[in-house]
Amino acid sequence: MKVNIFGLGYVGSVMAGCLAKAGHQVLGVDVQTERVDQVNRGESPVAEPGLAEYFAEAHAAGTLKATRDVSQAMAHGSISFLCVGTPSKADGSLDTSAVENVCEEIGLALAESPAKEPHTVVIRSTVMPGTLKRCEDKLRKATETEPGPRFRLLINPEFLREGSAKARRWPTSTSLPSPSWAAMIPPGPPP
Ligand SMILES: NC(=O)c1ccc[n+]([C@@H]2O[C@H](COP(=O)([O-])OP(=O)(O)OC[C@H]3O[C@@H](n4cnc5c(N)ncnc54)[C@H](O)[C@@H]3O)[C@@H](O)[C@H]2O)c1
Repeated sequence: MKVNIFGLGYVGSVMAGCLAKAGHQVLGVDVQTERVDQVNRGESPVAEPGLAEYFAEAHAAGTLKATRDVSQAMAHGSISFLCVGTPSKADGSLDTSAVENVCEEIGLALAESPAKEPHTVVIRSTVMPGTLKRCEDKLRKATETEPGPRFRLLINPEFLREGSAKARRWPTSTSLPSPSWAAMIPPGPPP
């Protein structure tokens, strides 16, 4: 599959490296030029056992690249995993603005791109109830469409454990609940 990963921090980099290792064509998207450049040199932006080899192999095979350009990502993949940061605010609540901004950017890029199959957006970042609705509103407003023909929005929260993230990559199954669509995907290959 052709897959986009938004956010090349711990969660996004582990996911990008493991999906490329599993044979997918992965395009990472990040606002940090240094992280994008690292991926395009075949280097992992984060330190995680075994990940450097995955990035080097995928770079050599041409299956893992990165960009800052959201439109390029929409032209590349039919699914985008959002792994951007959701830091805590001073009052202890989560700042989900990066997730919501990416949904808006994806919607605007979709609106500018030729209509094809619906683009699937999967939120992997940690968010609180209510965020999904705001993200769906961003996508709806930017594309001027309802969920279905141009986009689908799902949530699949990450439970990564830093230091042993690669070993825990393949769960027995993954459920993807959504306000408007749902799916159960089969287990992936063993690590
Ligand atoms: N690290 C963990 O062990 C872990 C475990 C479970 C869940 N999570 C959750 O996963 C999410 C990501 O965590 P992380 O540790 O990978 O964060 P991180 O801070 O390491 O990385 C986030 C990345 O998102 C990028 N980013 C920010 N705004 C962007 C935008 N508009 N477009 C593209 N990229 C953008 C940043 O530049 C950064 O590279 C958070 O919600 C976190 O709570 C993390």
